[in-house]
Amino acid sequence: PTRLAVVGHPIGHSRSPRIHAAFAEQLGLDVDYQAVLAPLDGFARTVERLRHEGFAGCNVTLPFKPEALALATQASARATLAGAANTLGFEGDTVWADNTDGVGLVYDLVAARFPLAGKRVLMLGAGGACAGAMAPLIEAGPAEIRVFNRSADKATALVERHRALAQRHGVNLKTLGSLDSGAVYDGVINGTSAALGGTALALPRGLLKPGGWAVDMVYGAAAQPFLDWAAAEGAQGRDGLGMLVQQAAEAFSLWLGQRPDPVPVLAALRAELS
Ligand code: ATR
Repeated sequence: PTRLAVVGHPIGHSRSPRIHAAFAEQLGLDVDYQAVLAPLDGFARTVERLRHEGFAGCNVTLPFKPEALALATQASARATLAGAANTLGFEGDTVWADNTDGVGLVYDLVAARFPLAGKRVLMLGAGGACAGAMAPLIEAGPAEIRVFNRSADKATALVERHRALAQRHGVNLKTLGSLDSGAVYDGVINGTSAALGGTALALPRGLLKPGGWAVDMVYGAAAQPFLDWAAAEGAQGRDGLGMLVQQAAEAFSLWLGQRPDPVPVLAALRAELS
C-alpha cells in the first residue's frame, strides 16, 4: 500500500484517516493512512521516522504546521505565503511542503455556490487558519477582502504579506479596525478559534448583505454560535466540514495523482456526525 499519515498533537480526534480511507476505496487504491501522535518537541524526529519507514507523505495538523514548512526542502508558493504547511511529500531526498487548507476552503465555497468573484469578503481572525486561506482566496478574485482581528497587529502583518499578490489579482485587501464601521459584506469567513475556547465571537447584526453567505472554518458544536448569527442575518451558513474534506482531497491528489470526489465523502461524514 501507499503509506500516509496525519501527524499532530493531539491527534485522536482526527477525521483524516476516515476521509482518506473513503477516498482510497472510491478510487480503488491501496492506501494505508494512519493517525500519528508526535511529541510536542519531536515533530522533526517523527517525520524522519515516517520517511525511513517508507511513507509517501503526511498531513500535518496543530501545532506543527509552521514547523512542517520549516523542515521541508521545497515549498509551494501558497505554503510559503501561509507560513505553514499541512501536507508533506517524501520523494528521495526531497521533502516537499504544500498547504491545501486555503484551496479546500475555496473549493468548498464553490461547491456551496457561495460566490467569491467580484464580491466583498470579510475575514474574521488572522491566525494560522486565516493565513492558510488567504492566498487561494485572493486568487479566487473577490473585489475586496477585509481582515478583522482582535489583535490588530496580526491582521496588519497578514495583509502586508499578501499585498503584492492582492495587487496582482486586483483585490482590494485591507485590515478592518472595527466591526461597527457600517460596512456590509457579501460573505464572512470565521477563522478565529474563539468558539473553540468557549467564548463565541460577539458579532454585530447587519454585517452581511441580504442573501449573503457565512462560513466557519470549524465544525460541530464550535461552529453553532456563528451559524446562529448567520441565520439571524438571513444569510446562508456553512460549517468547516466541507473545507476539511476538500483540503484532504487536494492533498490526496498531490500524493496519488488522482482526485477523489469529495461530495459523497462529505455526505457520509455529515451523516456520521449528526
Ligand atoms: P489557528 O491555527 O486555529 O488559526 P491561532 O493561530 O492561534 O490558531 O489563531 C487564532 C485566531 O483566533 C486569532 O486570530 C485569534 O485572535 P488574536 O490574534 O487576537 O489572538 C482569534 N481568537 C482566539 N480567541 C479569540 C477570542 N476569544 N476572541 C476573538 N478572537 C479570538
